[in-house]
Amino acid sequence: MRAIRGATTISRDDPDVIRREVGNLLDVICEKNGLDADDIQVIVFSQTKDIRSMYPAKAAREAGYTKCTFFSAQEPDVEGSMKLCVRAMVLTDTFGETRHVYLNDARLLRLDLAEKFNIALDGPAGSGKSTLAKRLAREFDILYLDTGAMYRAAALACVRASVPDWDEKAVCELLEKVKITVKYKGGAQITMIDGEDVGSDIRTAEVSMAASAVSRYAGVRRKMVALQREIAGGMSCVLDGRDIGTNVLPDAKFKFYIDASPEVRAERRLRDYEIQGLNENYDDILRDIKRRDRQDSTREIDPLRKADDAVVVDTSAMSEDDVLEYVKKIIEENV
Ligand code: DC
Repeated sequence: MRAIRGATTISRDDPDVIRREVGNLLDVICEKNGLDADDIQVIVFSQTKDIRSMYPAKAAREAGYTKCTFFSAQEPDVEGSMKLCVRAMVLTDTFGETRHVYLNDARLLRLDLAEKFNIALDGPAGSGKSTLAKRLAREFDILYLDTGAMYRAAALACVRASVPDWDEKAVCELLEKVKITVKYKGGAQITMIDGEDVGSDIRTAEVSMAASAVSRYAGVRRKMVALQREIAGGMSCVLDGRDIGTNVLPDAKFKFYIDASPEVRAERRLRDYEIQGLNENYDDILRDIKRRDRQDSTREIDPLRKADDAVVVDTSAMSEDDVLEYVKKIIEENV
């Protein structure tokens, strides 16, 4: 006898939603474990106390699981436990590899069982990549790697050393001497030059342009990409940048190309600067954005480009919430 575990959260305590979500949980369990509904002998359910409008067992029967024996029980109301959650144990006499299934927020219950996956977000400056990346990281409880911050740190090192005209040889020699690293504190990325946290110094307009300039060089990219692959190879991550889906992680499970018109992006940057208390001018920002777009997408090595298998999301007329919901849905349906 095989015992397959599963759990899902329900978005609302409503019979239609419970029927759909419980049916979906059982469908995914069957699909991942090579079962037909008729192969299941017993399903044991437990549900949290806030699910009142329908028993999961009834939902399962109405979703087409009619031949097996059911048992449902309410869970104790444990402080801090997940809300609106249904847990299932499916018993079957069939043979094969057992794959437990955790869906929606219930994935967080057993991240150890969840498959490792990477999300690649590419797109031009100001398209909303980093806002989306941070929110996705929170939603899925995975790491966010801001690759732009690494190029910005490399650029800041060059600005501080007054490298003339971003001379390639001088830039690459300098980066042999300084060490760009990232670490995480409370889930937030700390980007460092020789151990110094440079998070607040790398967001200026000057460093933005310098990052676009120095990131064209093979010597710079080789170093950054190696570090990015090392970090993303070990755990589930969301990475944003210009070449993540095309070069850094060509096998990423999810790839999105986040875009928006230059004018909308300039508006967003202006607002970011205002929040930081920096006084910048819209026309200058728009000019810089267009220049960076050109520089980032026409450079010889790993230019900004949509990966062939990336989903394009034009965020020009979308709110941050809309973008998150749209992307999250695609991921949840396929994770
Ligand atoms: O995303 P950002 O604005 O922080 O990126 C700063 C610059 O770094 C950007 O103009 C191009 C470069 N970059 C890159 O070449 N490859 C990446 N993966 C990320 C950023």
